[in-house]
Amino acid sequence: MKKKILTGIKPTGYAHLGNYFGAIKFAIDLSKSDEFDCFYFIADYHALTTLKTKEEMEEYSYNIACTWLACGLDPNKVVFYRQSDVPEVFELNWILSNVTPKGLMNRAHAYKAAVEKNEAEGQEKDFGVNMGLYNYPILMAADILLFGTNLVPVGLDQKQHIEIARDIASSFNNKYGNVFVLPEDYIQENVATLVGLDGRKMSKSYGNQIQLFTTENVLKKSINKIVTDCKLPGEPKDVDCTINKLYKLFAEEKQAKDFEERLKAGLSWGEAKQELFAVVNEYIKPMREKFDYYQAHKGEVDKILAEGAEKARMLAKKTIAKVRKTIGVK
Ligand code: TRP
Repeated sequence: MKKKILTGIKPTGYAHLGNYFGAIKFAIDLSKSDEFDCFYFIADYHALTTLKTKEEMEEYSYNIACTWLACGLDPNKVVFYRQSDVPEVFELNWILSNVTPKGLMNRAHAYKAAVEKNEAEGQEKDFGVNMGLYNYPILMAADILLFGTNLVPVGLDQKQHIEIARDIASSFNNKYGNVFVLPEDYIQENVATLVGLDGRKMSKSYGNQIQLFTTENVLKKSINKIVTDCKLPGEPKDVDCTINKLYKLFAEEKQAKDFEERLKAGLSWGEAKQELFAVVNEYIKPMREKFDYYQAHKGEVDKILAEGAEKARMLAKKTIAKVRKTIGVK
């Protein structure tokens, strides 16, 4: 039996370069191997805990769907679906809630961070926390356990969520017998932490991201916003700078070495940014063309996702039938 790999991205914003190198590319590479059966999805109901409007939900959901396809996801090889199209996820979510200790949720990073922030600001501890945020890890466990997932490719920030999913699976198995596979995280080695415009980790929460798919013009503008020091043209530049770090990800090794030498020799920041734009743009261009195609053909995207949901549900229904029987529900 092939190992099952599953991962989801929640549509809370436009995909950026950090998402691409931190998660999407790794997942796509894995899907090309014949070793695995892959399930990749749009975690739209997870996004609901933070999104403010219906427009955002629609816009970001399509952005993530088109991003997956543009980056090379082959819907004939990967079961590709919207979480909200698989109602079995939500049935399992409820069942799992009943074997999940409340204390386990109190310890989840996102909830703890919200509480700590409130306490630091002298607010009531649960201020602004909805039950979606609080129960988020249970829904994620349902996503994972429903398909008998072995491996979950994620970034380090999601490691605890996979541990929680494993705890919940064990807790169910201990109560009722072995039904669920215990999932493990699959974190890529030597993953480059992508730096953002301000030199910190690229993240939507810092507002320092470079969007993956946008027009050439906006991409150029973003790259021009990268913060540099005040070294003048002709002065040697620190090769540990954001521009060089990004350049290395997009350029061939030889080209990257040459760029680094020229930075040391005093290449101006202005020229360096232009060259960075050129390599990034060249890298992204073929994917952007696909992205633009899917954005202009949303009906096709809907059809692909509907077919994916149907495949996902064939397996999901089997799991739910087994779980219901196990817990004594007709
Ligand atoms: N919580 C994940 C994130 O923020 C998204 C997600 C939802 C997910 N369900 C999942 C990831 C199941 C892996 C498996 O990135």
